[in-house]
This record gives sequence, structure tokens and C-alpha cells, in this order.
Amino acid sequence: MLKTLDHPLALHVLTHLRDKTTKPATFRRLCHHVSVMLALEATRDLATREVSIETPLETCKGRVLDRPLVLVPILRAGLGMVEIIVDLFPDVSIGYIGLERDHATARARSYYCKLPPLEGTRVLLVDPMLATGGSAVQAIDVIKQRGGSEIRMLNVVAAPEGVRAVEEKHPDVPIIAGALDRALNDRKYILPGLGDFGDRLYGT
Ligand code: URA
Repeated sequence: MLKTLDHPLALHVLTHLRDKTTKPATFRRLCHHVSVMLALEATRDLATREVSIETPLETCKGRVLDRPLVLVPILRAGLGMVEIIVDLFPDVSIGYIGLERDHATARARSYYCKLPPLEGTRVLLVDPMLATGGSAVQAIDVIKQRGGSEIRMLNVVAAPEGVRAVEEKHPDVPIIAGALDRALNDRKYILPGLGDFGDRLYGT
């Protein structure tokens, strides 16, 4: 299931992210803004539990988060979404998955994987660009093998090809994206997209 951000601020931020004249410092700030919107959407249904607290005036009931959160960026571009999500959810644990394309098999191959315990958690898998879906499918495979069962995929921009791939292999994983774009080009870049996210983030 795909959910795209439905907010004027998301349209505004995405337009500036797409603009090729946007410089890395602004690009990073805009990436933070859209990551906040994605993270809020991906945690909208997170469990809470009742607590009792004292305001300066009286005792009252409130609710606090009751589901451990794990944030898993796919290296390298996913790192751009981490800091701000950790600001929002300071108790989050962080795992990392590094994937590269194996030219022999044309599949994403894991070269780095460090994950905290995943049982009983909500996993936010973050990768700004959902292009072919190869890395996303592979990362979800690994997360499920390690015990993750409640997974949300967060992307700044998604292509229909990537959405189809994830929905086919992992229909239980909702995708939350800033926008659903038109298609991939023959070099597997998203159109209209915003170019290479990692390059634009790090000015490489
Ligand atoms: N990765 C990117 O950074 N950009 C794309 O368009 C596709 C994959």
C-alpha cells in the first residue's frame, strides 16, 4: 500500500528539492523537513499507553509512546534522513544496511548490516529514492529474517516500478512517499525525480 504526503508544505519542499539549482546546504535542510513529515505519517498509528503525570496545577492522565522504534537507513543516501528522525524520537535504536548492485546478478548485495533486536518493534526503513525497488526488497528481506515484522518504508520520491516491486514481494509493508513520480529512465533514475540524492546531499 502506497501513501503519498498530502500537504501543501510537502509539495513546496519537494519542488525545491527537485530544483537543480538548490545547493547542498538547502537540500539537506529540505530533506529534514520532508523526513519529519514522512516519519509522522509512518508513526501515526503507533501504540501509546496511559500514564499519570503532575502538571504545575493538578494530576492528569496523558499518553506516551509504547512501541520501541527502530530506524534503518539504507546507506548512503538514507543517512540524510536519520538525524532529524532521531531528534523527533530520541529513544529510537538505529540499524544500518549497506547495499550495492552486484553487476553479475543485477541484484542488490548487502555489504554491511548492523541491526539492533527487532522483535516487537516498529521498523522505519528509510531510503530517499525508491527506484527499481531492488534494494528495498532486499533490505526488507534482511529485516524480516532478523525478526522485524512491523515495517514501514519511507521514501522522499518513489517510482511506480519500485512501488510495484515492494508491493509484490512484501505486500504487508506500507510505503510512505513524498511523491509518486512518472517512471525510471534507462539508467534507472527516477523521472522527473531530483537526480542522485546522495550526490545532491553531500555535494559529490
Ligand atoms: N537513486 C537516486 O539517487 N536517484 C534516482 O533517481 C534513483 C535512484
